[in-house]
Amino acid sequence: MDLKGKNILSTKQFDRAMLISLFEEAKSLSSDSVLNGKIMAALFFEPSTRTRFSFEAAMLRLGGSVISNADMLKTSSATKKETLYDTGKVISQMADVIVMRHPEAGSVAELAKGSSVPVINAGDGANEHPTQALMDLFTIWMEKGTLDGLKIGLVGDLKYGRVPHSQFDLLKHFDSEIVLISPESLKMPEGILEGRDCVEVDNLSEVIGDLDVIAMSRVQKERFDDESEYERVAGSYVLNGALMEMAKSDAIVIHPLPRVDEIALEVDSDPRAKYFDQVAYGVSLRKALLKSVLL
Ligand code: NCD
Repeated sequence: MDLKGKNILSTKQFDRAMLISLFEEAKSLSSDSVLNGKIMAALFFEPSTRTRFSFEAAMLRLGGSVISNADMLKTSSATKKETLYDTGKVISQMADVIVMRHPEAGSVAELAKGSSVPVINAGDGANEHPTQALMDLFTIWMEKGTLDGLKIGLVGDLKYGRVPHSQFDLLKHFDSEIVLISPESLKMPEGILEGRDCVEVDNLSEVIGDLDVIAMSRVQKERFDDESEYERVAGSYVLNGALMEMAKSDAIVIHPLPRVDEIALEVDSDPRAKYFDQVAYGVSLRKALLKSVLL
C-alpha cells in the first residue's frame, strides 16, 4: 500500500489489498511518536464532533501537532471570498497534511489542487466521506473477523448520505451481499449504484432477521431543499428493542453518529450495538492513514 504523499479524496482510490493492509496496520499500530515534528491542519467548513477530534487525537497520539479551525465558513478568509485553491496553496506551506470538511461536493478536491501536501477528505457535501467508510469497514472486519460472506444492510438516507455512498463503494471489493433499505424518495442514486446488483427494500423489519451488519444512518436534514419533504421521511426507521429481537444473535449495529431518533436509547446496552465502540476504531484507522500518507 503506497499512500505516501497522496491525497485521500475518494474511496475509489482503494483496492482490496490496500484496505486489508490498512486494517492490519490500524489493528497493530502502537502510539509511538512516529509523527513527531509533523503538523496536521484541520479545516472544517461544516459542523463536526467525531471526525475532527478523531483526526486530531490520532495525530497527537502519534506525536504530531495540530492546527485547527472548526468554523472556517465564518472565521477564515473564505468570508473574504478567498478561493479554496488559494487556501490550499497557503495552508500547505504551514502543514504537512490537511484534513478538510466542506458542505459542497468536490470542494476538497478543489483545495487539493492548490495544495503541495496530502489532503484528506473528511466529508464533501453529500458526495463522499471516505475515512468514515474506512473505519466502518474496519469495525466490521474487527468485529466479524471478515468482510466476505456477510449480509450487510445499509439503512436510512441513501440519497444524501455521504457515508452510505462511501460504504457502498468500498464494499464492492468484498464478497458480501448488500441490502439497501430506504424510503422510496431516499434511494441510493443511480450514479453510485453503477449497475451493481443488490436488493432494495423500504421495510427494515422484513429483512433485519437476515442481516449480519445493520449499518444505520441519519436522515441528512441539512441537504434537503424542501423542509416539508424532510418532515415526511424523518423518523422513517427507528431501530428499537423489538426490532433487535428479530435480528441475528451475532449481528452488529453500526452508525457513524450523530443519531437523531433512528436508534432508540434502549439499544445502547445491547452487546450487538457497536456504534460507540466505533469511535476508538476510528482513531486507530486514522492513525494508520495519517502515518501512511506522511511516512
Ligand atoms: C457523518 C457525516 O458527517 O457525514 N458523521 C460523521 O462524520 N461521524 C454522518 C452524519 O452527519 O449523519
